[in-house]
Amino acid sequence: MAANAAPVIAIDGPSASGKGAVAQKVARRLHFHYLDSGSLYRLVGLAARHAQVSVTDERRVTGLAAALDVRFVDDDIYLDRQLVTDAIRSEEAGAAASEVAMLPGVRQALLERQRAFRAAPGLVADGRDMGSVVFPDAVVKIYLTADAEERAARRYKQLIRKGMDASMAALLQDIQARDNRDSKRAIAPLKKCSDAIFLDTTNLSIDDAVEQVVARYAAATQAP
Ligand code: DC
Repeated sequence: MAANAAPVIAIDGPSASGKGAVAQKVARRLHFHYLDSGSLYRLVGLAARHAQVSVTDERRVTGLAAALDVRFVDDDIYLDRQLVTDAIRSEEAGAAASEVAMLPGVRQALLERQRAFRAAPGLVADGRDMGSVVFPDAVVKIYLTADAEERAARRYKQLIRKGMDASMAALLQDIQARDNRDSKRAIAPLKKCSDAIFLDTTNLSIDDAVEQVVARYAAATQAP
């Protein structure tokens, strides 16, 4: 890490593993900035739909990713000045995100945008390749996961709470398809880095996971 670079805590893992909730709480505890990198891929997927561009058209989708007009205001996200906070959370947007995330041009176009979130006093970043590609010098790397069934159940509860339609069987199928695409793609696949700490939250609460991440950070940054 460059001497003056702000510290990064990288939290990677499959969809619905709870990494977003854990990362946000860790950021709040440490007064760090927060990057939800998945939201950028979701925004590109949505931008493609708005522009009626196929998610497999690499040249045009990369152009959209490079020109993405996005603003993060508190907990809200605006794409082309339109509020899309809820729209990017739909299962459909997640599936589109996973498709555009396979395109090398899109990943490249989003790289600097993600690194720009790094600022003092520090950053908590969650995604699939935070520790492997975007912030390889992260001071703490966590690989957060949970059983697919448990993740489908969590997503189900989340959607029902928001008053959205959901089916457990369809969600499980979607999660398994997404895991498959995210971990098998040729570029920056989801995988546990050799220097990442494995954290299984199947039987662990969000708050317990937060405690473990904060403790790891404290241990990593303590003076010898
Ligand atoms: O974390 P999420 O479910 O919001 O991410 C949506 C999709 O974006 C996910 O299926 C894969 C992709 N993604 C990625 O490829 N790299 C990241 N760093 C974050 C997300």
